[in-house]
Amino acid sequence: MAARSAVLNVMAKAAEKAGRALVRDFGEVEQLQVSRKGPADFVSAADRKAERMVREELQKARPAFGFLMEEGGTIEGSDKSHRWIVDPLDGTTNFLHGLPHFAISIALERDGEIIAGLVYEPVRDELFWAEKGAGAFLNHQRLRVSARRTMADALIATGIPFKGHGDMGTFMAQLQALAGQVSGIRRWGAASLDLAYVAAGRFDGFWEKDLKPWDIAAGTLLVTEAGGFVSEISGHKGHLSGASILAANPLLHGPLQTILHNAVKPKATPQAQG
Ligand code: IPD
Ligand code: CA
Ligand code: CA
Repeated sequence: MAARSAVLNVMAKAAEKAGRALVRDFGEVEQLQVSRKGPADFVSAADRKAERMVREELQKARPAFGFLMEEGGTIEGSDKSHRWIVDPLDGTTNFLHGLPHFAISIALERDGEIIAGLVYEPVRDELFWAEKGAGAFLNHQRLRVSARRTMADALIATGIPFKGHGDMGTFMAQLQALAGQVSGIRRWGAASLDLAYVAAGRFDGFWEKDLKPWDIAAGTLLVTEAGGFVSEISGHKGHLSGASILAANPLLHGPLQTILHNAVKPKATPQAQG
């Protein structure tokens, strides 16, 4: 059975507390679907409440650490080495529409490196967690990325640009290059869970552009600790900036990177004939 460190227990306690509140609020949201205005304001309040709960729990246990949070932004800590990176509700659009696929994502960064990560899906009570060098787990079960080696067998997750967000041209070119070669592409709407599912071998790969550190900080550690590879789509290592991310099992990361990168590479202009 996996033994969680003290800091991971702090993170799990915070996520489970906020998760219970989110599940209660999710029940309310289902009732509000039919109202004309819809549950948007209620969901924003649920999101902020979950973030406050996570922040208070983490602060109580580690008062000196700083924060980077989706709703509350940056809080400087007196300890300049450690920072929590928090998305209190990843998959907001699913939550708003009564779709039970959302999560809380918490990562701990030390001197610029993610050393612990947790993604909690409260509806199914699935706690994905990892510590640097100690492996990745789902509840008490050790995680390994999938062993699928052929593109034809692969199920790949992605994010589709939406209203005011993302680069549709790039996405369409990448989709066109990849879709005919794999067994399926999914857009489930919560990047932290897309990464957790790659770590768990449910998806064989995941790519998306223009994410934020709080969407991916915990999930990338899950993938690498489960034996997968993570990079930018260009192959560079700066994926935590969120410009683009590609995560996959080690057998498919290279082939996926080639297809996605080449799909948007400027074509060489043919030399004029003399
Ligand atoms: C979003 C989800 C989604 C991704 C978006 C994110 P939010 O986060 O992770 O899958 O495609 O780009 O903004 O807004 O639900 O926390
Ligand atoms: Ca998010
Ligand atoms: Ca969010």
